[in-house]
Amino acid sequence: MRRPYGLEGLPHQVTVYEVGPRDGLQNEAAVVPVEAKAEFVARLAGAGHKVIETTSFVHPKWVPQLADAEELLARVERRPGVRYPVLVPNERGLDRALAMEVDEIAVFASATETFAAKNLNRSLESQFDMFEPVVARAVAAGVRVRAYVSMCFADPWEGPTPIPQVVEVGERLLGLGCYELSLGDTIGVATPGHVTALIEAFGSPDRLAVHFHDTYGQALGNTLTALRAGVTTVDASTGGIGGCPYAESATGNLATEDLVWMLDGLGVETGLDLGKLVETSTWLAGLLGRPSPSRVVQALSKG
Ligand code: HMG
Ligand code: MG
Repeated sequence: MRRPYGLEGLPHQVTVYEVGPRDGLQNEAAVVPVEAKAEFVARLAGAGHKVIETTSFVHPKWVPQLADAEELLARVERRPGVRYPVLVPNERGLDRALAMEVDEIAVFASATETFAAKNLNRSLESQFDMFEPVVARAVAAGVRVRAYVSMCFADPWEGPTPIPQVVEVGERLLGLGCYELSLGDTIGVATPGHVTALIEAFGSPDRLAVHFHDTYGQALGNTLTALRAGVTTVDASTGGIGGCPYAESATGNLATEDLVWMLDGLGVETGLDLGKLVETSTWLAGLLGRPSPSRVVQALSKG
């Protein structure tokens, strides 16, 4: 047992929004069999996760790795007290999600023109025409809607993203009726001062979550900074798997184990069992045929 050493200005408790089954598996070269995906989700719930982003109802040709969304949801045993949100880009996706009786979805917008075209086949402006009826219909049906903004710090084609542009996109999404806005560092280039500046530009951290990819090894430092700025929801993927197929330079998300190691050490509650997470990542690494990139998984799985 480690003795925690706290730091001032941190929340007592953090919600870890697990994205491994969606953001992680969407970028794996191998298509993982649906039974294994269902087991992954069950293991995550068994490790204490209360929110597990399970799959995407996107076009199956765009993300073939998640083309089995219906089959997976039919297999996942939805435990009381655990949320199983899914990604939905448009009304066709919403129809599919509603048919599977999901109670939470996430729409995903771009902060830049180029990524809106590459990821959604829409312009920066016309992406909102796609999201507006999705959010309105979902909310009317009693389904909660989270929103992502991608490329919040920089974009591989356009360079640094202007902060006011991110804030405008984010506020429009919240204005549609989304309960939370997850700020995506899709290509993992953010550094702590930039994170603070972006959160401050929103005026309040209350409805913000953070979503860091660990491409440049900055995800943990950025997360600590976001927590000190008042954010209390952090996206992470067990084992650090992940990326975005439409942003080649994106690698895995912040590993849930790396996050939990830090938060346990700080005495911040997550409700997660680190040992069970590591067991899950070791099992998953066997399935994917490559070791987890998480340093904590590597250290703890050596025994
Ligand atoms: P489009 O080609 O413009 O679609 O793609 P469309 O509206 O013109 O429809 C064309 C055909 O696709 C139609 O069929 C539709 O029914 C069908 P047809 O009438 O011709 O037979 N279709 C669908 N079928 C099944 N499910 C659907 C669906 N939608 C249309 N949902 C679209 C537009 C948004 C669909 C496409 O661009 C797409 O699927 N994009 C998803 C890309 C993606 O999933 N990227 C990864 C997730 S984002 C991410 O990872 C970032 C994040 O982690 C945060 C961060 O890190 O920053 C969230
Ligand atoms: Mg992502």
